[in-house]
Amino acid sequence: MSLLTAQPSAKGATLQNADFQKVRRIIFDYCGISINEGKEALVQSRLAKRMRLLGISSFSDYLEIIESERPNGEFLSFVDVLTTNKTSFYRENKHFEFIEKHIYPTLNGRSVKWWSAGCSSGEEPITLAMNLLEAGSNVNARSVKILATDISRDVLQIAKSGVYAQHKVGDIPGNYLGKYFTHLPDGSYKVKDEVSRMITYGRLNLNDRWPLKGDFQFIMCRNVMIYFNRATQEKLITKFRDLLEPNGYVFLGHSESMNAPALGFKNVAPAVYQKI
Ligand SMILES: C[S@@+](CC[C@H](N)C(=O)[O-])C[C@H]1O[C@@H](n2cnc3c(N)ncnc32)[C@H](O)[C@@H]1O
Repeated sequence: MSLLTAQPSAKGATLQNADFQKVRRIIFDYCGISINEGKEALVQSRLAKRMRLLGISSFSDYLEIIESERPNGEFLSFVDVLTTNKTSFYRENKHFEFIEKHIYPTLNGRSVKWWSAGCSSGEEPITLAMNLLEAGSNVNARSVKILATDISRDVLQIAKSGVYAQHKVGDIPGNYLGKYFTHLPDGSYKVKDEVSRMITYGRLNLNDRWPLKGDFQFIMCRNVMIYFNRATQEKLITKFRDLLEPNGYVFLGHSESMNAPALGFKNVAPAVYQKI
């Protein structure tokens, strides 16, 4: 057993190393996420929550259920709890400035086709949509399609509801908050239809086949690939490239990068890559 194993939690259960290795294998095979050695305590506490809810006291029993129900049922909740979904409105704001400067001028009445891949609870695509509405006359809001996908049902449920607690909306400029959100009696904020109708949410596993057709102007896949190994990252970027229009862009998170020339891109700004 690893020294990093946490204290028993689900009715005295402890995550044995063999079970931890099984979790790592299952999650890597299914969604490409590499859970590092040393994350036993984190995995144990996240799975223990599910086990408490289901009244299961042993990790190996829980993993048997996971494997028998894969890819449905409890397997989906297993994936939900093991993904990391941290996000915020206007995160890494330089990218939105880049879009305003370099992409808006190319639209000129064209349909807008963008993809937020790994959109978590919706803050990223909502930021894109609000900014675009602010861009005004150059853009026909009815011809905007922002596809926003994630593997986790939990975050997609929040995204589809469009409701955010007060502490989540702090980075939204004050006038946009008043204009594009309704302040609900319980203190939370609900995004208005004008914004949400520009976004199509869906569950999509980036590590699986995609029922998508090409010609996106850009694909934003930020702070997602950081959890993937190099081979999975490169496979994904190659697939993104096929779905981009000529000169289209991929946005990665600021701590992520790619071997641009080898993958058919050039690096045009921090974590921004243009298809060549
Ligand atoms: C840290 S969040 C990033 C959210 C947003 N892009 C941002 O930068 O703020 C990473 C998201 O990637 C999703 N994700 C991880 N593996 C995935 C996969 N194989 N397919 C689709 N989404 C995945 C997670 O569920 C999570 O919501």
